[in-house]
Amino acid sequence: VAGELGQDMGWEVYAVGGFVRDILLARPNFDLDLVVEGDAIAYARRLARQLGGRVKAHVKFKTAVVILDDQRVDVATARLEYYEYPAALPTVELSSIKMDLYRRDFTINALALRINPGRFGQLVDFFGAEQDMKNKAIRVLHSLSFVEDPTRILRAIRFERRFEFQIGGQTLRLIKNALSLDLFSKLSGTRIMHELQLIMAEENPLACLNRMQELGIMEAIHPLLKLSADRVQVLMELGKVNNWYKLLYLEPRVVPWKLYLLGLTMGIKRDQIGQVTSRLRFTTKEEREFLQLRDMIGDALMRLMSWREDKSRLSRLSAILRPIPLEGVLFLMARSRKEHIRRGISQYLTRLRDVTIDVSGTDLQEMGLAPGPAYSAILVRVLEAKIDGRAQTREDQLRLAKR
Ligand code: CTP
Repeated sequence: VAGELGQDMGWEVYAVGGFVRDILLARPNFDLDLVVEGDAIAYARRLARQLGGRVKAHVKFKTAVVILDDQRVDVATARLEYYEYPAALPTVELSSIKMDLYRRDFTINALALRINPGRFGQLVDFFGAEQDMKNKAIRVLHSLSFVEDPTRILRAIRFERRFEFQIGGQTLRLIKNALSLDLFSKLSGTRIMHELQLIMAEENPLACLNRMQELGIMEAIHPLLKLSADRVQVLMELGKVNNWYKLLYLEPRVVPWKLYLLGLTMGIKRDQIGQVTSRLRFTTKEEREFLQLRDMIGDALMRLMSWREDKSRLSRLSAILRPIPLEGVLFLMARSRKEHIRRGISQYLTRLRDVTIDVSGTDLQEMGLAPGPAYSAILVRVLEAKIDGRAQTREDQLRLAKR
């Protein structure tokens, strides 16, 4: 459909970027990016009409998003290339996929796939991307790539570790050069944080962080973020716990950066943590929440030390963990040396936190109790009894509430 529409409108249309890369690498990718050698917005509007979707247009950037039920398609207008003809001839404006691809980060992301009928599936490879894929190499397209956009250094590392490729020799030199020019310190915290979030959402964030450390990037972001052996150890444990939790398909989902940032900032004193959060441009609210999370964890670690595995006391474990956000609970699980605590936390996550009781405030009212703060104390008591296996049925729970 997308290709035929392009043909109808008289424009070449290409699938580009990560989508094409991932086809060649036989990896799933559902983010379709299209480039039109024409008016992307007009094209997107017609595409949406044909497919029954909505369009969000960014007139300034000549781009649009087609939003379908289960997918979104980004459509961009190919950058224009200007050919100056000598003498009296006018400047010719040529819309060009080549120019569009040239401004991209790495050869492997600078591939296009023609989708117009007749040429459907033709690979457009101006920069040797196919060869680089065969060689498993991450290469930039030109030597100013990292100067133009230093976040590409982090992207290079992310792709290198994700695909188990190697950053090419010249590209690595350009990275080192950019780092020695201290381009990182000029990079905004917001952009660094965004890249860190993407890294931490990878299958193996630690591989990326290790590579960053090797290149001196952790300290370039902030000296307090140096990846010490202790932190590597903790991050490894966090990775295991995170994978365990992911495989259970439980809700809510983990926000990976919240989990890993706890490990990355381990050992930083409370009065110094602000240096890191302000470098990463946390809002006041984000900073407060992060500090709170760290405090809760510190407090819970102390209380967990005296927790003994004993059926009657699962409710106590549950009471310790309940106020703590999921990432904090997983951190505690990763940090606990004692097997019985890990087992208890795992029970909490898979079962205890979802335990609900079968009596409600209405029941208490019917018993003749005046509504008030006593209600929640009673309901908590009932919940704890149920968790400890002492009040499984509604009758048991009502009896307990009456006492
Ligand atoms: N891009 C770039 N420079 C950047 C960010 C993006 O050149 N700093 C280009 C790349 O060509 C990339 C495309 O924009 O393919 C889309 O970016 P994004 O969606 O971030 O990348 P994907 O390659 O799809 O990566 P991922 O698989 O992580 O989604």
